[in-house]
Amino acid sequence: MKDYEGFPPLHVVRAEDSFLYTSDSRRIIDAISSWWCKSLGHGNLRVSQAVKAQLRKFEHVIMANTCNDVLVELSERLCAIVPELSKVFYADNGSTAVEIAMKMSLQYHRQCGSPERTRFASLENGYHGETVLALAAGDCSLYSSPFKSLMPEVRKIVGLPYVSGPNDEGWEDMGDDGWENIRSSLDEHAGSLAAVLFEPVLQGAGGMRIYSPDFLGRLSSWASANGVHLIADEILTGFGRTGRMLACMHAGITPDFVCLSKGLTAGWGPMSAVLTSDIVYDCFYSDYNDGRAFMHSNTYCGHALSAAAALEALKIYEDERIVESVSERGDELVGRMRRIAENTSGALTNVRGLGFVAAADITNPDTGKPFPAEMRKGFECYKNAVALGALLRPIGDTIYFLPPLNTPENILDKIAEITQDAVNSVIGG
Ligand SMILES: Cc1ncc(COP(=O)(O)O)c(C=O)c1O
Repeated sequence: MKDYEGFPPLHVVRAEDSFLYTSDSRRIIDAISSWWCKSLGHGNLRVSQAVKAQLRKFEHVIMANTCNDVLVELSERLCAIVPELSKVFYADNGSTAVEIAMKMSLQYHRQCGSPERTRFASLENGYHGETVLALAAGDCSLYSSPFKSLMPEVRKIVGLPYVSGPNDEGWEDMGDDGWENIRSSLDEHAGSLAAVLFEPVLQGAGGMRIYSPDFLGRLSSWASANGVHLIADEILTGFGRTGRMLACMHAGITPDFVCLSKGLTAGWGPMSAVLTSDIVYDCFYSDYNDGRAFMHSNTYCGHALSAAAALEALKIYEDERIVESVSERGDELVGRMRRIAENTSGALTNVRGLGFVAAADITNPDTGKPFPAEMRKGFECYKNAVALGALLRPIGDTIYFLPPLNTPENILDKIAEITQDAVNSVIGG
């Protein structure tokens, strides 16, 4: 809050397409899709009409013991994305979707033959949300350290095969040595694990890191051989962000649970969904008094306005070939970041990109090393960029672009120009 004294919040009065309009008549490009959710930009007309049409019918009714056309069609369309996962459970935010998947996995093992499977593993540098289980699954101490006393221990898989993107030679093959180290540490706990959680291929809040999908292929074989569930957190990566409808598709794997949010409604409403299989579903299906049901409910699960937005967003992704266009345009986005690195004399290193995400780390050009974190170079860069007209919001000293998936070229150019000026002024000054 103290930061706001010198850097007041933007007073937004309107948002449209790529732009935020402020009360002091500024127009600011939203270069990070409002925390990664506005996949079609602000105020998309078709989504807006779908939400208004739903509003004329009803805005929300209890989801227990009711159904409606929008939710039925949405569920059918979501399940068609991963044909092996034919069941959907709705909630109202990403963190809760992660909690639901973890709870479901735990309860599945408890009542379907492996009650000893009570632990979870997840990836170094992962992020899965802010509720306590999701914090425990994540690996971002900035957010979790005050709450350690509440968090169950979740084993972290280290030594991930990080790459700069699909053109990196490590993309296709992580190498046997790297995998053997990971496999032997997983083997030690194989019998106690309920599930392994991961953000597939792209880790967002942990620093926009990209790792080889080959790792996921190997992890998936290991998990099925060892009776361990896979929980894919596609909350950031789902719906085309990485150039595939789901990032798991880069690895050709089918997890037991897929968590979706953000792009699910194109950022129009709080909604999340967990997809799972008939096998999981059947483990909970029984007479009420058997006590096998999954007893989890959120007031706003299946919220009708969000569902209407989600259904229309899915139609737009298809009609406008959004995923295909991301895969075609991704190289140009990371190319822009690369050019900025070239034009800022060593101030940006470790350029990387996948789909419609590109990132790089602010580096001291004199030493080639990171600046001390206390210097908050990323924050300085953020302030400069906002003054120049783009909302960048780096993670620490990692600068990234994560614009709406349909952002026109000229706006991407403007984001790049502002970023370059912002970086130059931070390093120069
Ligand atoms: C990968 C991932 N998982 C979970 C979450 C949490 O979602 P929410 O903020 O809707 O709780 C986020 C949010 O940024 C995320 O990026």
